[in-house]
Amino acid sequence: MRPLEISADDFRRLAEEVVSLSAEYLATLDARSIFPDTSGVDVERIFGLDLPEQGMGDGALTALREVMARARAQNGRFYGYVQGSGEPVAALGDLFASILNQNMTAWRSSPAGVTIERTVVRWLAESVGCAGFTGTLTGGGSPANLMGLAMAREKKTPANERGLWGANAGMVYASEQVHMAVPKGVAMLGIGRENLRYIACDDAYRMLPAKLDRAIRDDLARGKTPIAVVASAGTVNTGAIDPLEEISRIARAHGIWMHVDGAYGALAAIAAPEKFAGLNLADSLSLDPHKWLYQPLDCGCLLYRDVAMARQTFAYTGSYAKQLSDDPIEGFAFFEESMELSRRFRGLKLWLSLRYHGLEGFRAAIGRDLEHAQRLARAVDRAPMLERLAPVELSAVCFRHRVSAEASEETRNRFNLALLKRILPRGKVYLSNAELHHKFCLRACIVNHLAEDADVEAVVPEVLAAAQEIRAGA
Ligand SMILES: Cc1ncc(COP(=O)(O)O)c(C=O)c1O
Repeated sequence: MRPLEISADDFRRLAEEVVSLSAEYLATLDARSIFPDTSGVDVERIFGLDLPEQGMGDGALTALREVMARARAQNGRFYGYVQGSGEPVAALGDLFASILNQNMTAWRSSPAGVTIERTVVRWLAESVGCAGFTGTLTGGGSPANLMGLAMAREKKTPANERGLWGANAGMVYASEQVHMAVPKGVAMLGIGRENLRYIACDDAYRMLPAKLDRAIRDDLARGKTPIAVVASAGTVNTGAIDPLEEISRIARAHGIWMHVDGAYGALAAIAAPEKFAGLNLADSLSLDPHKWLYQPLDCGCLLYRDVAMARQTFAYTGSYAKQLSDDPIEGFAFFEESMELSRRFRGLKLWLSLRYHGLEGFRAAIGRDLEHAQRLARAVDRAPMLERLAPVELSAVCFRHRVSAEASEETRNRFNLALLKRILPRGKVYLSNAELHHKFCLRACIVNHLAEDADVEAVVPEVLAAAQEIRAGA
């Protein structure tokens, strides 16, 4: 046998072992502690070993059980960040994608793979009311936002050839609630974070369009070059949706690019299109199937309306990658419309999962998440010791413990941080946090197809029980 080769029979045996462990994990997920019972020292001891010189053969797989035991069990009571449980049919697609090991560079590298990716991108665009947009799958919302901003910068202040050095780098606008991916992207593109203007929000954490207009006018008066506005369709903290139609009017009036960061929320347009009026007015839009389409991680998407602009931004082809076909289908190359060259076959999991469950399955799951968030909001509102800190537009619920009627903001912040640290290791529900107007909040974000009513109803009693524990000095 050649080095590294394994027989088809050996592969089947190993695969059966992995599949059987996966099925065991899924069957026991609900009963698992969400917070793995482990420590830094424990995982270093087990996984921080030296690289084996001799292969371990089948023994290599035995450690998978240890990995499983030390995984954060994202069951129906996991509401941290913007992440769900992962859809298992899609996971099978991921396995098969790795076996085929197709490279999504261009049609000639993978006729089926590239066609499937183009198809699922079209499906995504159509499903959120943006028919006619095209785009690519990405590793997540961060690269999708970066690519959208790169297109905006190239349109208004072309820098691909001569760079931005010394040039008027241009201004980008986003609400105070924008996700960190945007200031990161602005930095990486050489625009500089000082040229990102944070626009104030209303009480519901939505960008104030009049403030945006004012900021653009002020910058123009100072001789600056506005490039782009980033509107959020679901802010990471509270799920607020910026007023997309008004923002688009302002962007058009000033001739600037409108990118929508829909990484968290835009896919909810499948179930609640009325909340997303104006989404289709974006020049580019990021959305994350690995968030609200329940896909296993590594599945974001950038959509845009102007393919020529994507090519102007991203096409730069070495002679070694030259297209050999003029055929519009067979000559297609994703790398001329993306910052990446080699890319995994992300479309397969999405394609399989969407075909298996149908759009109606996803619409129903997203609809349940929206209802669950309202259910949780009501439960928080009924609890005298809890205080909700933001409206629930989508599926994020921000709240805190009041501590006492007279407690200072500082005391409340300290107590709620301690509360989160107490809730997590109890392992029953998983929350993350947000900060709103300097208030530390507990945050439940429900993008989880496994959540049941009872799971959502477990949150408030669990928070109160953890608070009780702290007060009792346990
Ligand atoms: C609004 C928003 N934008 C962008 C991102 C970044 O997405 P990713 O983690 O897929 O890079 C997130 C992640 O939570 C988000 O909520």
